[in-house]
Amino acid sequence: MRKIYPADLLARDERFVRLTTEDRFSDPRSPGSRSGGRGATRLTPSRPDAPDAARTLMHGIFVGEVQALEGAGRTCWDFETGDGPEDTPFALKLDMARQCWDEARHTEISCKLMDWMGTELGEFSESIFLYEAACNPDPVLRLTGVNRALEGLAIDVFNTMKEFGDVAGDPVLEFCEDWMLADEVTHVKMGSDWLRRLTETDKERRERALEFQRVVDKLFSLGGFRGEDEDSPIKLARRFRELAGFDADEMDDLAEISRQAKKDAEEHRQRLAPQPSA
Ligand SMILES: [Fe+2]
Ligand SMILES: [Fe+2]
Repeated sequence: MRKIYPADLLARDERFVRLTTEDRFSDPRSPGSRSGGRGATRLTPSRPDAPDAARTLMHGIFVGEVQALEGAGRTCWDFETGDGPEDTPFALKLDMARQCWDEARHTEISCKLMDWMGTELGEFSESIFLYEAACNPDPVLRLTGVNRALEGLAIDVFNTMKEFGDVAGDPVLEFCEDWMLADEVTHVKMGSDWLRRLTETDKERRERALEFQRVVDKLFSLGGFRGEDEDSPIKLARRFRELAGFDADEMDDLAEISRQAKKDAEEHRQRLAPQPSA
C-alpha cells in the first residue's frame, strides 16, 4: 500500500464539496478570510445568524473528524516501526490507533449532530488543511501541526460549542461536544508528550516542530476569530489546553497572535469600507 497518500486522492463520494485552503481564506463570508471577513462576533443564540453559524461550525467539525481519522491512520502506516531517528515507536502508533477509534466515533457523533441541527453532508464545503498537515514527512511535525495546533483549535471549538449548547438550552449538543472535547484533550496531550519524548536529545528537531506548529496556528488565527476577547467567536480554552500539556507562555503567544490577526483584519476592513463623500 502506498506511503504518504496525497490529499487529492482521498476517497470522497459526490456529496463532498472540496474547497482549497486558498479559496477558503479568499471567501469574504469566512470569518478568517483575507478580505477581513464580516467581523464575526461571539457565538450566542441572540446572534441573528446563530443557527447557520452553528451549523457551519458543525459541518467543519465533521470534515475535520474524517481527516483526523485519515491522518492518524496514515501515521500508523507511513513510517517503519522502531526507535531510530527515521522510525516511529510502536507506542506512538498505538496512540494513533487509539486516536483512529476516537475519530471514527466522533465522525458518527458529528453526522448525527448535523442531522439534529438541520444540516447535512455537502451543505458546506470541505477544505483539506488538516489532512495536508498530516502529510508532513516527519512524524513529530505531524503531531505538532495536527495534534497540537489543529486539535488544540478543536479544543477551543468544542468548548465554545458546548457552551453554546448550554446557553441555547440544547443538552444533546452540549453533552456530545463535552464527550468529544474529553477525547481531544487526550489527543493534544499525545502531541505534547511525543514532541517532548522524541526531541529530548534533538533540540533542532524540536524547534522545527514548534515552528511548524506556529505556522499552522498563525494560518488559523486569520481575522482573530479564536481569541480571548468577549466578542471572540471561538474562545481560547486555557484550562483544557493546560490539561493537554500547553504551558502559560504558549497560550499567551496564541492569544497575542490572535489579537494581532484581529487588528490586521479590522484595519483591512476599514480600508475596504466606502469613504464618505466630501
Ligand atoms: Fe475528533
Ligand atoms: Fe482528535
